[in-house]
Amino acid sequence: MKNRLSKLLYSMVWPVYDIFFGAGTPFVKNMRKRLIEKLELKKGQRVADIGIGTGANVPFIHEQIGPEGEIFGIDISREMLNKCRKNLDKWGIKADLMLGDAEELPYNDRSFDAILCFGIFNHVDNPDKLLKEIMRIATPGAKIVIGDEIFPFLARIPKLPENAVDVRKSRDSGILPFWIVEFKNRK
Ligand SMILES: C[S@@+](CC[C@H](N)C(=O)[O-])C[C@H]1O[C@@H](n2cnc3c(N)ncnc32)[C@H](O)[C@@H]1O
Repeated sequence: MKNRLSKLLYSMVWPVYDIFFGAGTPFVKNMRKRLIEKLELKKGQRVADIGIGTGANVPFIHEQIGPEGEIFGIDISREMLNKCRKNLDKWGIKADLMLGDAEELPYNDRSFDAILCFGIFNHVDNPDKLLKEIMRIATPGAKIVIGDEIFPFLARIPKLPENAVDVRKSRDSGILPFWIVEFKNRK
């Protein structure tokens, strides 16, 4: 149900999304930089951005992993992904994009060094299932950063699994306040 609502919502908001939350939007830009720093990226890593939207985190990820790194993104909204493709062309950055539901990720087990999932936990039907999928595709030792808006009527923070280690919780804000949880997948 929530997934269907998300599709509908983002099929309408995609034309204005970058005005408020884009990679270059002041305030949000600095918040995104801080978010990406938490991923502790290294050159050449394989990174997944789950619910990639218009790709607003991608320039900051690319800056850290360099052209030898690989970025993968999935989103449930065709319109947001189309906008993401246009942004990537504009920025001259390559990423492997897929249309799909993050609760059933189309990636192999243990295939990413770092995973970002920002702004979608409030949207999915089952946040615990989403986190289980994220853990499945993470390599042992991978850094994972998740977060979404903090509003109590919306916020759906998943229960962390036992193999989540070095857990840190924080808050940050761009235009809106967010909860952020960062941790590593136990080696
Ligand atoms: C608030 S936006 C965040 C986009 C991006 N992560 C960012 O930081 O700007 C939420 C995104 O999650 C996507 N989304 C919502 N539910 C999803 C699901 N079940 N699977 C994949 N993407 C989903 C929406 O289509 C939208 O692009």
